[in-house]
Amino acid sequence: MAERPGTPSLAILGTGAMGRYWAYRLASLNPLIVGQAAPPYQVQEQSSTRIAHPRWQNWDTEPQNSPNIVLLAVKWRGMARVQSWIAQHAAESLVISLMNGMGQEDALPVANLAAGTTTAAVVRLDTPGRRHITINGSGETILPDRNDWRMDALKAQSRAQGWNWTWTDDQTMLTRRWVKLVQNSIINPLSALADCPNGDLPNHPLWQLASPLMQEARTAAESVHVHLPPDLSDHVRTLTAVTRNNLSSMLQDVRAELETEISAINGYIVRVAKQQGVSAPTHEALTHLIQSLRVRNP
Ligand SMILES: NC(=O)c1ccc[n+]([C@@H]2O[C@H](COP(=O)([O-])OP(=O)(O)OC[C@H]3O[C@@H](n4cnc5c(N)ncnc54)[C@H](OP(=O)(O)O)[C@@H]3O)[C@@H](O)[C@H]2O)c1
Repeated sequence: MAERPGTPSLAILGTGAMGRYWAYRLASLNPLIVGQAAPPYQVQEQSSTRIAHPRWQNWDTEPQNSPNIVLLAVKWRGMARVQSWIAQHAAESLVISLMNGMGQEDALPVANLAAGTTTAAVVRLDTPGRRHITINGSGETILPDRNDWRMDALKAQSRAQGWNWTWTDDQTMLTRRWVKLVQNSIINPLSALADCPNGDLPNHPLWQLASPLMQEARTAAESVHVHLPPDLSDHVRTLTAVTRNNLSSMLQDVRAELETEISAINGYIVRVAKQQGVSAPTHEALTHLIQSLRVRNP
């Protein structure tokens, strides 16, 4: 399909749940999806099932053009591959991260980085011979505003296509990223260690750690001038109820014996706390516990 004037070219890195989801949701941009799992794949959303077949190439293939925008949709263990792909093919691109965890600025020293958050909920359910994602919710996607034609083009697409995307200033974005980080830092490792769906967590003895985790995260956030909402603890508890049947992504990784995103979640809080001279011992202990679990080579 020819590129329309004013339409930026988009490459999505990663062919897992989110890579496929974004390729489906942002189809009006005719994105290129980069990774191991070749389309087509099924997309189930409510009662409808469709087949998606976006443009695809594997990590080692040279793209025809450098993309204007790169959207990161890998897990943190895929970051080395992303770093090398961007250095080779997209050094000048606008790089958008909607990955969980924080520390993208250190991992990706690119000129144009916009790290946002999304509450989209997508599960990858592949079986031999069939690739499949189920969209459990499109949620809300928030990005930091940028004075950049590529971001303006995304805003225009968002309005035209009805994506649920919003843009905000850097300080509000930072707070939103911390809120997501803190939610993940409580629900993900506790559910992974308790080996239970999110909804069972508040009744599990490990839930006693939720309070010190919140307290330490709040202190770390304050130390870098981020003020978390006072009712965040209530919100986290509500989240366990709203997502009661979900297995957190960290629990799924632990069950599959894959490296988790703990270093970018609780580990990030520990690094900030240490740099600022405050303590986060519960986050540190959980980081070590999760990292001590068995991991196989993928
Ligand atoms: N799923 C959700 O509902 C959701 C919601 C919000 C945020 N997120 C965040 O979005 C990001 C992507 O999550 P996901 O659910 O899409 O995960 P996923 O289904 O496990 O897919 C992650 C992709 O990362 C790449 N990857 C993993 N290990 C790798 C390695 N060792 N080397 C190179 N690449 C590797 C793979 O890409 P290839 O196979 O293509 O090489 C894999 O398909 C994560 O940060 C997650 O926390 C997910």
